[in-house]
Formats: sequence, structure tokens, C-alpha cells
Amino acid sequence: MCGIMGYNGRENAIPIVIKGLKNLEYRGYDSSGIAYFKDKMIKIIKEKGRIIELEKLLTSDKTNVCIGHTRWATHGKPSQVNSHPHIVGGVTLVHNGIIENYHTLKEDLMQKGYSFKSETDTEVAAALIDSLLSESKNKIELLEKTRKILKGSYAFLILFADEKETMYALREGSPLIVATNETGNFVASDIPAILEYTKNYYLLDKEIAVIQKNDVKFYLNNQEVKKELLTFNHDLVSAKKDGYQHFMLKEIHEEPVLVKNFLDYYLNNFDLIPDISKYNRIYIVACGSAYHAGLIGSYLIEKYGDLEVIVEVASEFRYRKTFLDKNSLVILISQSGETADTIASLRKAKEYQAKTLGIVNVVGSTIAREVDQVIYINAGCEIAVATTKAYTLQVLTLSLLAYKIGLIKKIISSKEKEIILKDYQVLAQEIKNLIEFDYLKFARKISQEKDVFFIGRLIDYYIALEGSLKLKEISYIHSETYPAGELKHGTISLIEEKTPVISILTDQTIYEKTISNIKETKARGAYSLVLKRKQFYLSNDIYDDLIEIPNATDLVSCILTIIPLQLLAYYTALELGYDIDKPRNLAKSVTVE
Ligand code: AGP
Ligand code: GLU
Repeated sequence: MCGIMGYNGRENAIPIVIKGLKNLEYRGYDSSGIAYFKDKMIKIIKEKGRIIELEKLLTSDKTNVCIGHTRWATHGKPSQVNSHPHIVGGVTLVHNGIIENYHTLKEDLMQKGYSFKSETDTEVAAALIDSLLSESKNKIELLEKTRKILKGSYAFLILFADEKETMYALREGSPLIVATNETGNFVASDIPAILEYTKNYYLLDKEIAVIQKNDVKFYLNNQEVKKELLTFNHDLVSAKKDGYQHFMLKEIHEEPVLVKNFLDYYLNNFDLIPDISKYNRIYIVACGSAYHAGLIGSYLIEKYGDLEVIVEVASEFRYRKTFLDKNSLVILISQSGETADTIASLRKAKEYQAKTLGIVNVVGSTIAREVDQVIYINAGCEIAVATTKAYTLQVLTLSLLAYKIGLIKKIISSKEKEIILKDYQVLAQEIKNLIEFDYLKFARKISQEKDVFFIGRLIDYYIALEGSLKLKEISYIHSETYPAGELKHGTISLIEEKTPVISILTDQTIYEKTISNIKETKARGAYSLVLKRKQFYLSNDIYDDLIEIPNATDLVSCILTIIPLQLLAYYTALELGYDIDKPRNLAKSVTVE
């Protein structure tokens, strides 16, 4: 699920591959490795842990062809032996993804005499390809056959023992690109890996790529096909920390400018925001933070557009009974555009002939390519595993969708429209002001605790879900989120002296009810940190600490409210000294089910 990097060209391939793998570190990984030919034999160097551990094992070897990998373990614990590359007979390969039928394949292959060193599904794929070598001399035919047998999602970069000058690439689901410059050709799982060498790349889809020093060829159904060479026109700057201690902090600081640019562009090109009022059923489908953005979107579309919206986690949606038809709209939200469950949900929606709309960050990603219409959030490259700026822009996109329906259906009056536009105008500056606030003092308190509760009602509950996820992801503090009224149906039994309860109070229609729920926790000794709209009155016996959000319409205040929660999570993790950009067990793009 993590990184692949390969080079075949005139330069020494080893430092290029190592550099590329480092450029992919943000995706999260637990081990790394490379393979190349030395004196006609394959040499594999691999190690558990950071790439720096791998570098310690490198020699002065030089080669023109090298494949490399960072692993995010799915089958078998992180260890040297489970790390990639894997070699079986004449086949050496690296793999991102999961082979779902590896177990049956392994049994068959063992009967044929293969034995396995690792616990991985990847080694089984290597053995399968090796077992097919005797049947097909032609490598393209061989890989087509392999594709028919393997189930799951995968991207492979392969070296065959009898072809020392060639790399082969094959993908199904997991992303892979082939890039090219005047020195040679590259294969990588994501664009940041190769950006310092070239901006020209091909997006691999169902084709098999044959990569040589001076040439790249693509094959589909055993026929050679031509592919379009794309140019990445975005800035590499966003892949550097620019003096910030962490990418996450840098990305939070980017939010004001991104929000301003996004609003300037879309409010001036309002036709690009689709009118979704004509659909009789609207679903929003996504995972993690993107799902939380979807929940907020549903609230806004229901409130301002008077349309019912069903929000589903993609891993559920793809398997559950749905009531889609050609009059339905499915909105897929994804930063990476490569999340396996979201892609599967998109394909399911298409099967039912529903219309699909993507809210995506990564240009040219699978979701962006496959949806009927895409809105790019233009957040630039997001490196920190915990999303901040992409989430904010996803919510902003949904805010504009809701605003547009509200105008079309005349639910938003012209007076309200003026207020909303003013709020959008000052949003970037208000975010900037909120970023400058001192959150460290609250973070110090939170960092001492084992359990935290977040509460809120309606849209405040949805915001709380994201605040809580941020805290969990990077500070490893257990945190639960409840609709405030639900607490007394069980969970309040967990509130003790000093248990932190973080309450969100921005929804005008319901905040008084939430205040009663905060009182209930305070009465049981909770440490109460309240995030509230400035205009709401709150007596000082209800909170221990207070963060205030400027007054604004819901279309905007839901965006303001997340900023303190992102920073609270950041400073808590900082206080605890964790690896904020690469939290344990997590990967930036979840390309497996
Ligand atoms: C967010 O901080 C997470 N790392 C995660 O929940 C993420 O939002 C989710 O995996 C969806 O990713 P996507 O937006 O790339 O589809
Ligand atoms: N499933 C493979 C493994 O566990 C590949 C994981 C990855 O994508 O890094 O080794």
C-alpha cells in the first residue's frame, strides 16, 4: 500500500531509487528494500524500519537498473524477511496492495514444490509468476495470465533473471506511474517520488509496461498500445517543509491561502459548481476524514438545499443493499482519489447507472478519472498522513454545493446571500486569526490524559468526529465522540474527576441543549474545554477553558471550528513527542480493502 520506485537509465540507479523512496516516506511504511543485478545475480538489500536503516547496508555498487519498495505490512509482521523485494526462482519483485486469493495459490504452489520464506502474499505472487515462466516464454502473455489468476489489488515492479536490462510493471487497483526524462525511465507509485527528476509521466491503468533504458512500451490484451504522456504542472514546493517543524503544521498554515484561492476561483466561475437539485436520491460516500466532511456536507445540503442526503462509509456502501438508479447522484470524496473502498463504491454506483461526482485532490487519480464529473479541491500535495487542508477544502466544496442549491431553490434569500458572501470573503482571514491562537496550553492538559470525550449535536457532532479522529491518529490518546444527548445513555459512566470533555457549540438551533449536556459532565467532575461561537452566552461555571469561533453562517462556521481542533491534536502530539507526520500503523493512501 506504500511505495514503489524503480529506475532504468544511464545514471546510477541506486541513489535515484533511494531518493524516490524517501520522497514517498509520507505515505507511511515499516520497512524498505531494493534489488538490482550484480555480476549477473540478483542482489537484494532490505531492512525493517526507516530507509536510513537500509542506507546503512548499501555498498559502493553501481547499477543502471534498480527496483525499490517501502512496505506497509498487510500479510505478516514488519520484519526483514517479510520486506520486499521478494525473489522466487527467476522472478524478483516489489508489490503494493493485497493478493486476496494468496492462500489457495500458496497451497497449489506448495504442492508443485515451492517453499516460502516469508509470510507475505507477495512472495506467493512471485512464485506464481515463476511457475508460469515455463509455460510462456513471452513475458507479456505471462503477465496477462498472471492478471487472470490473481485476485485483489496490486501494483508490481518486476525483474526477470533472464532480462537484465528490462523492468516490467503491472497494476490492478493500486496506483503506478511510469515517468521519463533524458537519462532514462522511472516507475513509481506516486508523482512526488519522481518530481525532482521529471514532470513527464504516464498513468498506468490496465496496461503492462515494459521499461527499458531508452524506451517504454505499453501492452493491453497482448497488443501494444500508445499512451498519452502527461505533464505535472503543480509545484514541488508543497512537498517541502518550508521551515515548519512538521508537514502537518505547514499544511494547516496553508489553509487560509488555499481557501481564498478556492473561493476566488469558484465564486467567479460559479457554473463549475454543479446543480445537484435535480436528483431524487443523493448519497455521499467516503472514508475517514472525507466521510466526516461528507456528514457536514449532508447537514448543509439538507439545511440550505432542502434535499435529503444519505452519507455512508465506503467500506459499508460497497456491500450493502442500495436503492440507486439513474436519477440518483453519488458524491465520492477522496483526497488521494485512490482509496480502494471509495473506488469500489464509485464502480458500484456506475453499475446502477447513478450519476457520480468526485470531490478529489490528486489530479488524474483513479476516482478523478472515473467519475462523471470532478471538482478538484486544489489543496496541493498533502504529505502529513493526518489530513488537514484537504479536509477543510472538501468541506468548503460541499459548502458551495449547498449554497448553490439554496440559491437555485430560493431557500437562501437575497439578504442571506449577502451575509453568506461576506462570510466567505473573510473566511481566509478568520482562519489565519484562529491559527495564531495559543493551543499549547490546552494541549498540555490533554496530553496528560488517557481518555478524551468529544460531544456536540447535529453539525457540531460531525465536527467533533473529525476533531477526535485527528487527536487519535497522531497523539494515540483514546478519544470517543458522542452526540451530546446520547452520553447519558451509557457513556457518562466513564466520566470521572478531570476526564477531558471537549464540547462543540456552534449550531444556533441546538446549542442550548448541548449546554445542558456539558453541565451533566461538569457535575461529574469533567475538565470542560468548550469551543463556541462568540455570540453564545456561557456562564463560567460550565467550562474550564474556552476557545471562541467568530460568528458566521453554518456554511462557514463549520470550517472555522475545525482549525482549533486540528491544532489541538497537533500540539498534543508535539507535547508527547510523537512522529506527527507519519503516525504508527497508518498509511496516507489506503489502496487496499
Ligand atoms: C485522515 O486524517 C486519515 N488519514 C484518513 O481517515 C483519510 O481521510 C481516509 O483514509 C480517506 O482518504 P482519502 O481522502 O484519500 O480517500
Ligand atoms: N501485502 C504486501 C505485504 O504485506 C504488500 C504491502 C504493501 O503494499 O506495502 O507485504
